[in-house]
Amino acid sequence: MASAKFASAILVSYLLVLATIHVAGELSPLYYITTCPLAPAIVKREVAKILHINPNLVGGFQRLQFHDCWVNGCDASLLIASTPNNQAEVDAFVNFQLRAIAEIDQIKAAIEAECPNTVSCADIIALAARDATVLSNGPYWPVALGRRDSRRSVAMDADTNLPFPVFPFAVLVQNFAAKGFSAREMIVLSGSHTVGHTHCNGIGPNLYNYTGIDDLTNPNLDPAFAASLKQECPKFNRFNIVNMDSTPNTFDRQYYLKVLANQGAMITDDELIRGPDGSSIVEYLTQPGSTFFAEFADAMAKMSKLSPLLAPAGEIRATCQVIN
Ligand code: HEM
Ligand SMILES: *[C@@H]1O[C@H](CO)[C@@H](O)[C@H](O)[C@H]1NC(C)=O
Repeated sequence: MASAKFASAILVSYLLVLATIHVAGELSPLYYITTCPLAPAIVKREVAKILHINPNLVGGFQRLQFHDCWVNGCDASLLIASTPNNQAEVDAFVNFQLRAIAEIDQIKAAIEAECPNTVSCADIIALAARDATVLSNGPYWPVALGRRDSRRSVAMDADTNLPFPVFPFAVLVQNFAAKGFSAREMIVLSGSHTVGHTHCNGIGPNLYNYTGIDDLTNPNLDPAFAASLKQECPKFNRFNIVNMDSTPNTFDRQYYLKVLANQGAMITDDELIRGPDGSSIVEYLTQPGSTFFAEFADAMAKMSKLSPLLAPAGEIRATCQVIN
C-alpha cells in the first residue's frame, strides 16, 4: 500500500515535471497529460462520429489545418467569425466555402465538458486533421500539442499568404518556400486534394480563363476531361460541386493519377507536372510502393508546427469562433 502510494507520487511528480517542461517553450504530444489526458481521445472519438455521418468531411478537416497554419502560424485565427468592425480570415477570398468549422465547435464542446478552458482550438484543428486522415485510410503522424489561440484574424492576412488556384508552378514554389517547404513538399501536400471536393469557383479559370485570357481553356488538359468538366461547371458558375477524384472520402493516390493524366481540376493541380521535375515526382507518388504516405505525414506534422503561439502568449478560447 505504502509503496503503491510512493510509486504513484513519483509518477505524479514525473508528470508534473513533464508538464512544466512543456510550458517552457515547445509543443509536445504530452502537453495535456496532467491537465486533460483524454483530450486526444475525445477529438478522435468526435471526428469518428462526424465522419461516420459525412465521410466527405475529411477534406474539410485537412483544409482547415493548411489554411490555419499558413496564416500567422497554427493559432486558430481561421475560426474566428467576422464582426461588424472586422472582416476575419474566414471571409477571405481564399477561404471560399470552408467546411468543418461547426464540427470543430462540436469537438470543442465535448472537450470543454471534460476539461474546461484547457485545450486550445488550434490544437483541436491539428488533431482533427490527423485523425480524419487516419480514418480515411491515410497515414498517421504524431501531433505535438500546446498551441494557444490568437486574438487576431484579418481577411487580408489570408489572401496575402495562401495560394490562389491560378498560381503557376514557380509561384506555388515561392509560396511554399516562404513557409520553409520545398517544391517536393508542395507537391506532396497537394496530394491532400485526393479527398473532399471543390466548387466551380476554383475550376473556372482552368476552363474559361486560362492565364487570364477570356474563353481560353488550359490547352494541357485532356480534351475529353475538359469537355466533361465544362458540363459540371458551366461558364460563370461558382457554386456547383465537383469531387476531387473518384474516391473523395479515401486518402489514396488517385489524385496524382488524375494529374498525371492531364485531368487536374484547378490550374494549380495541373501545374504540378509543368515545373522542373514535377512530372517525375508526381509519377513516383502515384506508385503504390512510393513513400507518398510517409512524406505526406512528415509534411503535415511539420506544417502543424508553423510558428505556434506558446504560453503565456495567446489564450485558450472558450468558443472557437469568438475571441474571449
Ligand atoms: C498548392 C496550392 C493549393 C491551392 C491553390 C489550393 C486551392 C484549393 C481550392 C480552390 C479548393 C476548393 C475549395 C472549394 O471550392 O470548396 C481546395 C480544396 C481543398 N484543399 Fe487545397 N489548395 C492548395 C493546396 C492544398 C494543401 C497543401 C492542402 C492540405 C495539405 C489542401 C487541402 C485541400 C482540401 C482537403 C480541399 C477539399 C476541401 C473540402 O472538401 O471542403 N490544399 N484547395
Ligand atoms: C479573366 O482573367 C483576367 C485577368 O485576371 C480578368 O481581368 C478577366 O476579368 C477574367 N475574365 C473573366 C470572364 O472572368
